Amino acid sequence: MRIVRDVASVRAAVAGAGRVGLVPTMGAFHEGHLSLVRAARAACDLVVVWLFVNPTQFNEAADLAAYPRDEERDAALAAACGADVLFAPTVEEVYPAGHATTVTVAGIADVLEGAQRPGHFAGVATVVAKMFNMVGPDVAFFGAKDAQQVAVVRRMVADLDLPVEIEVLPTVREPDGLAMSSRNVRLGPDDRRRATALHRGLSAARDAVAAGLRDPVAVAAVVERTLAGEGLTAEYIAVVDPGSFAPVASVDLPALVALAVRVGPVRLIDNMVVTP
Ligand code: PAJ
Repeated sequence: MRIVRDVASVRAAVAGAGRVGLVPTMGAFHEGHLSLVRAARAACDLVVVWLFVNPTQFNEAADLAAYPRDEERDAALAAACGADVLFAPTVEEVYPAGHATTVTVAGIADVLEGAQRPGHFAGVATVVAKMFNMVGPDVAFFGAKDAQQVAVVRRMVADLDLPVEIEVLPTVREPDGLAMSSRNVRLGPDDRRRATALHRGLSAARDAVAAGLRDPVAVAAVVERTLAGEGLTAEYIAVVDPGSFAPVASVDLPALVALAVRVGPVRLIDNMVVTP
């Protein structure tokens, strides 16, 4: 596996390759990230892993400062999963002096995560558009864990006619259901235990919908009660259309239940599709 740091080198590395797969990441790899690299390896001739802690998508300086970084470990894991190129650019390479263009996706980027984290999705959309133009992949791999990110990226790709396919892989979870996240390492033992309430709540909502519950307010209340059992309060619990992220009036088609919860020092997100 080659490690490259600038656009010219990554373009040289992909030139003439067959099907190019791109796995966008901010590093601190866990099985969620690695499942994307393996999926890319299985589907593509050349696999590029993007590793860049994108400052413009952090709306809290403390969160950016605390973000775990270990490039050496990440490089070894990416190579072991079959990546051909690790593209780890510097901040100056991605945002050279004078950089002045931002991609904003209206509507879908303004609700839920977008409402709680102003500017977050503009940072994501801009860096994803840039990496697509830098690398020129045929297909890019994203995790369902960040469902709204997927919806924002799909909207942007459609609206800007970007010639990239978007593949979405299921959320990889710990044995007790907690969605893997680079931020989980900052949970103390007690918070780590309480954090299982997110997945337990979502699973209870899924079961309730399967058993006939249709009212989205009642579905959210199922999740809320599970969280309350651990003394947790959600920032939001939303029952939305999985494509548009518009709230649903009744769960008559598969819907997405998405939530954000602060557990001790960490803000966690998770989601699950509920099917009537
Ligand atoms: P990051 O948080 O590092 O996530 C990289 C990719 O891994 C995303 O597509 C995310 O959805 C996926 N992922 C994270 N946890 C997962 C899990 N438990 N199971 C499956 N997939 C998981 O998302 C970003 O970085 C950034 O916003 C990025 C797109 C790289 C732009 O900077």
